[in-house]
Amino acid sequence: MATTTAPAASTPPRAIDPNKLNAFLGRAVGDMGAALHSAVVLMGDKLGLFRAMRDGKPVTSQQLSERTGVRERYVREWLKANAASQYVDYDAATDTYSMNAEQAFALAEDNTALDLPGFHYMLASLMRDGDKMVEAFREGRGFGWHEHDKDLFVGCERFFRPTYLMHLVSEWIPALTGVEAKLKAGAKVADIGCGHGASTILMAKAYPKSKFTGFDYHDASIESARASAKRQGLQDAATFDVSPAAAIPGSGYDFVTTFDCLHDMGDPVGAAQHIKKALAPGGTWMIVEPIAGDDTASNLNPVGRVYYSASTMVCVPASLSQEVGLGLGAQAGQKRLTEVLNEAGFTQVRRAAETPFNMVLEARV
Ligand SMILES: C[S@@+](CC[C@H](N)C(=O)[O-])C[C@H]1O[C@@H](n2cnc3c(N)ncnc32)[C@H](O)[C@@H]1O
Repeated sequence: MATTTAPAASTPPRAIDPNKLNAFLGRAVGDMGAALHSAVVLMGDKLGLFRAMRDGKPVTSQQLSERTGVRERYVREWLKANAASQYVDYDAATDTYSMNAEQAFALAEDNTALDLPGFHYMLASLMRDGDKMVEAFREGRGFGWHEHDKDLFVGCERFFRPTYLMHLVSEWIPALTGVEAKLKAGAKVADIGCGHGASTILMAKAYPKSKFTGFDYHDASIESARASAKRQGLQDAATFDVSPAAAIPGSGYDFVTTFDCLHDMGDPVGAAQHIKKALAPGGTWMIVEPIAGDDTASNLNPVGRVYYSASTMVCVPASLSQEVGLGLGAQAGQKRLTEVLNEAGFTQVRRAAETPFNMVLEARV
């Protein structure tokens, strides 16, 4: 399918600027440390090492070993690795380690605005998928969300949920025109591409008079979402069904949401057209997408760096695996997303809110 051009056996030597080389290598060493530390973070999360330090009290490796049941020699090396990455603090005078409040907030506390280990589950899953993805790239075919190692779904929920917990009910919904009042009074809501249902469940908790249905084409994610709603006693308020976005059943939805998934779809225009038909007159669609500028150069920053890599490994392959395969990418930007929405007949599109990682668009007919 794809044509390949063999690289030349040898290329003519090019002049090296030692200062530029050193600067690049300095940066690369930082990246190597960060990349390797990802495995160390996962280890700490799975073994409860971060959580055992969240009280902030200094511990020796022996004390942390006793708290967690993990062999002292392993704990000692793990602590040094975390100190070198500044994920824990080290006091040389007492040879003890501690987590400051900020480190604990990001790595060890429940229900905060950040769950950093969740990100590393996603990363680990992509490493596991590596060879399969190389084949997909080589052959030029897509690689669906459902084809990934399951830690992508687990990590996605863990890493995205805290953002929704912090912003969705308190900021994003109130920033929309007239939606909060409808939800408080009782509205019919579809959360499309809901994954493990974190957003659906948070909304169902906040607006008990409304009825929420989460849809996703990935059956295993829908099963997890159902189980999660049941665990929280919300199985009636938040129900879940397997469906691609372009075919969700029902009509008369007062409010439709898509969280970080429109750009993953192969045919976002087709999905948008279907959403337009499914909305009640005067209904609103809230589209949460990665924050991005409208051109490549404006996304070459730390946040865009995270997103472009995620987009290369997850979002573009996901879209290419589906019909049409538009491949918007995670950094499509508001202008391109608005074109998609306009093409489907949404004439009113505006940015209602944003965070350093997300933009929230409101689309109405
Ligand atoms: C990055 S995840 C986001 C999941 C969830 N909305 C969240 O924010 O945690 C993208 C989701 O879109 C779903 N998805 C991709 N294409 C879809 C389609 N055409 N129809 C429905 N769901 C789709 C995937 O299965 C996946 O659950």
